Order: sequence, then structure tokens, then C-alpha cells
Amino acid sequence: MSAGLVQAAYIVAAVLFIMSLAGLSKQESARNGNYYGIAGMTIALIATIFSPDASGLGWVIVAMVIGGSIGIHYAKKVEMTEMPELVAILHSFVGLAAVLVGYNSYLDHGVMTDAMLNIHLVEVFLGVFIGAVTFTGSIVAFCKLRGVISSSPLNIPHKHKLNLAAIVVSTLLMFYFVGAEGSFFAIFLMTLIAFAFGYHLVASIGGADMPVVVSMLNSYSGWAAAAAGFMLANDLLIVTGALVGSSGAILSYIMCKAMNRSFISVIAGGFGQEVVIDENADYGEHRETSAEEVAEMLKNSRSVIITPGYGMAVAQAQYPVYEITSKLREMGVEVRFGIHPVAGRLPGHMNVLLAEAKVPYDIVLEMDEINDDFPETDTVLVIGANDTVNPAALEDPNSPIAGMPVLEVWNAQNVIVFKRSMNTGYAGVQNPLFFKENTQMLFGDAKGSVDAISKHL
Ligand code: TAP
Repeated sequence: MSAGLVQAAYIVAAVLFIMSLAGLSKQESARNGNYYGIAGMTIALIATIFSPDASGLGWVIVAMVIGGSIGIHYAKKVEMTEMPELVAILHSFVGLAAVLVGYNSYLDHGVMTDAMLNIHLVEVFLGVFIGAVTFTGSIVAFCKLRGVISSSPLNIPHKHKLNLAAIVVSTLLMFYFVGAEGSFFAIFLMTLIAFAFGYHLVASIGGADMPVVVSMLNSYSGWAAAAAGFMLANDLLIVTGALVGSSGAILSYIMCKAMNRSFISVIAGGFGQEVVIDENADYGEHRETSAEEVAEMLKNSRSVIITPGYGMAVAQAQYPVYEITSKLREMGVEVRFGIHPVAGRLPGHMNVLLAEAKVPYDIVLEMDEINDDFPETDTVLVIGANDTVNPAALEDPNSPIAGMPVLEVWNAQNVIVFKRSMNTGYAGVQNPLFFKENTQMLFGDAKGSVDAISKHL
């Protein structure tokens, strides 16, 4: 393949990647978005493997067969709830690849003079630094999500000063590295510091912020890939890395906003204030109901909103939820879904589950689209959601989730909460919604409860 053709293929692939991201931003177009991404990556791989600079085709194919088989095996096996773990470990590979590419281009950079050499050395140094931070950071994120290490934040004394020192020393080492035209001591010492820095950065972040961290590591892995692109003088890798880097950063920002967390405090590993939870607060009595009563209430409703959360995913209740939705719609009841941006454990978690169960997209609305409709709603079914429907976020300035926008379900006539106990949700805070006059609890596994309602319908 000629060099011109390779460049043309890279441009086509880059455009397909952009179209893929655009497609993935909406449910209706997400499937096509995936196809664009697959097409772009196929073109990119073919152009790279057959480019005039490539050699050792046999080795590349062996590596691709081994890597591809392992990838397919795990992608098929992984549960939806284990997705963040898989993503975290994949990011660690990108980080490690950037470190290896960095060392490779450091050891074998061909003939370069003055300015070119200096630029190359800076690229190598930055690429290895970002890659090493991403590598250990992602491994810690994986271990925390897996429960191999504790999800509570590591709190060593002067942790912010230590982080700052790691950055300052690495910067000084970079000047030394470039000045000495590539000192092995400097790059090796920086690599060790960056490994430790990545470990510490993620270890000091608490479990609650882990998904933000995973998306942030996604962003880092993109920048690591872009740095590798500079080192290899590969335009497509630079573009792809920048796309991943910026989309990861935007996603982290959106998640922080939806959870009312400050972006800086998350990435700096828990700056900000710890909030004390008052465990002795008296919330009053809660009322319980039965599947039969709920079925009756639903039949007598004109409009129903379902707000699913993490518990629906755990119980895999989306299929019976679809069943009752269809039955109610056939009876002439208006049924819609209200989706909180951080319901569940990953961005879009609820949308994916509902789409899987074939719930039509047009009745699945975002929080902002549906929040004003609760006062005109007869019945709200809160299925396995807790923090995302907690009025304390708006009413109690001392609550750990104070300020987080929530689905204002309590404004409806009747609220039914599906869960197994009075336990708290992810944020570990009690939910005053459960004790409101118009709320009734339907205890039990969400799938069992929804199945039972379906039978009564
Ligand atoms: P949560 O607040 O996590 O509450 C889920 C509820 O589901 C629990 O109270 C639990 O109560 C119930 N549950 C668990 N298994 C169940 C089952 N089998 N059947 C019935 N109920 C079950 O859920 P949410 O409202 O979706 O909020 C998500 C939380 O995760 C937020 O705090 C959010 O900030 C956080 N978070 C989300 C994301 C993203 S991107 N989505 C990322 C990071 C963090 P019982 O134990 O009593 O059953």
C-alpha cells in the first residue's frame, strides 16, 4: 500500500470514528455508531499493517489472533455490572502500551538532530509519564471495583503535597533528560515515580467516585495513545487518542455534575469536606403494600412514571417491567420512564437495560424532560432506585448528596418503592422519601415483585 493511500485511509478512519462518537450519543443511533467505529478500526488496522513502514506481518497477525481471542472471550463473558472493571483493565493495557512505545522510541529513534531530537525526547518523556500513570491507576481501579483491595480512600499524611512533589520532580527530570540528550537514569526514575503517582492518585479516591475515575482514566488512556501517536509519527493515533482523551474528559465532567461532585476534588483524590451522617435521625414510620394492591392502583391510574435504578439491574427486572408496561399501555394507561443521569453504576446503564428489554425509546425520558410532570402523575414506581430519588438532596444541606439534582417523584399522587429492605443506596444515606405520606414500600426482589404485579394485572 502506498504512503498516500495509507494517509487517505487514515482520514476515512478518523471521520468514521467521529461519526461513531456522534452515533453513540443517542440510543436510536448507537447501533450505527458502533458499526462506524468497527468500520473505522478495520480500515485503520488494514492501512497500518500494510503500510510501507510496517514489517513483521507474521508477528502482527500472531499477536492479533492471541489478543483478539482473549478479548472476545472476556467480552462475551462479562456481566453488565462488571463492565467498569473490564474497561479499567483495558485502560491499563493502553497505558502499558504507551510506556513500551516510549521506551522503544527512546532506544531506537534513528538519526535526529538538535530541535528534532529535543521535541522527540519531550514526546517520549510525556508519553511514558502519562502511560505509566494510566497503567498503575487503572490496575488500582480494577482491583477496587473487583473488591480485591478496599474501596475506601487511602489517606496517607500530606497526600496532596506528595502528588505535587511527584509532578515537580518529574518535570525537573524532563529538563535533565532533554538536556542530557536522553539520560536513561532520568527516564527510568521518572517511570518509577509515575507508577507510584498513578497508584496513589487512584488509591486515594473513595469507592463512590470510582466510575468517574474510570472515565477519567479513559481520558488519560486517550492522551497516552495520542502521545504514542506523536512518537510513532502516526496521525491517526494522534486523532484517535485526542478523541478518546477529550470524550473521556467530557464524560467525567458530566458525571461529576450529575452527582454534584467537584471534578477537581475527584481527580485530586478527595479534596473538599467530609460530611457527617446523622444515623440517629428520626424519619418516622414507613408503610408497606402488596403486589395485588399495587396492581389495582396501577389499573386505576391514568398516568404512570417508572424510575428505575441500580436494583432493577441487580434483579434483572427489566423484562417483567416491559411486560407490565405493555399491559398497562394496552389498558390505556400512559406509562413513561424517568432516567436519572447516574442511575445504576455506569452512564446509560438504565437505557441499555430498557433497550435490551425492548422498551420503546420514545417513552424513556431524561430527568430534565420529565421532572416537571410528576405533580400530574398518578403513580410512580421507583424500581430499585434510591439516591437518585432522594429528596434530602434538595432539602437537607448537610446531606452528603446535597445539591445533586434528583427525580422529584414525591410530587406525584402515589409513590411505590420496590426494594428488599430499608437499607441505604450507594451513597449510604437514608432516604426520607420512604417515610412520606404518599409513599408505600413493596419489599422483595424487584423481579419477583414486578412479576407478581404482572400476574395481578
Ligand atoms: P442506589 O442508590 O444505588 O440504590 C439501589 C437500591 O436498589 C438499594 O437501595 C437497594 O436496596 C435496591 N436493590 C438492590 N438490589 C435489589 C433487588 N434485587 N431488588 C430490589 N431492590 C434492590 O441506586 P440509584 O438510585 O440507581 O443511584 C445510583 C447511585 O450510584 C448514585 O448514588 C450514583 O451517584 C452512584 N453512581 C452512579 C454512577 C453512574 S455513572 N450511573 C456512577 C457512580 C456512582 P435494598 O438493598 O434494600 O434492596
